[in-house]
Amino acid sequence: MDKAELLAKLNWFYSLELNQVDLYMAQSKTFAGSYESIVFERTAYIEQQHVDNIAAKIRELGGTPTALGDVISPILGSIAGKIVSLAGVENTLKANILIERKAMADYTNLINTIGDEYGTELRKILEHNLVDEDVHTAWFSERLTDYDNSVIPDQV
Ligand SMILES: [Fe+2]
Ligand SMILES: [Fe+2]
Repeated sequence: MDKAELLAKLNWFYSLELNQVDLYMAQSKTFAGSYESIVFERTAYIEQQHVDNIAAKIRELGGTPTALGDVISPILGSIAGKIVSLAGVENTLKANILIERKAMADYTNLINTIGDEYGTELRKILEHNLVDEDVHTAWFSERLTDYDNSVIPDQV
């Protein structure tokens, strides 16, 4: 993978992680007073660490971290409007699961295609971010099971 392609991919993650920080902080405020609010705040903190570790790698490779704007709406696609109109913890968790799954799929893809020329440190950062997203997905999914008749979306 050449450096330009790698930088483009890292910028995609940088933008996604930035969007997730904003999203989870907003959700934390929306559900203030609930346990979920604390979880969303803590999750935003982890996503900020991802923003920072991806940005550091982009700079190390000679690039400039560049926010691409809203990358979350396209991930949610046609269900985005529905989720907004049916706001509530349950729909919020479903949307979050879709976003986390997209992040996991993309991290997995990059880890599997990056090759060895960029060293083990970058791979480790990507792997650790992937594991964090996996943990987030597991918590959101587990919490969803507390709601009756929940159906977790099975595709992004
Ligand atoms: Fe993340
Ligand atoms: Fe995450």
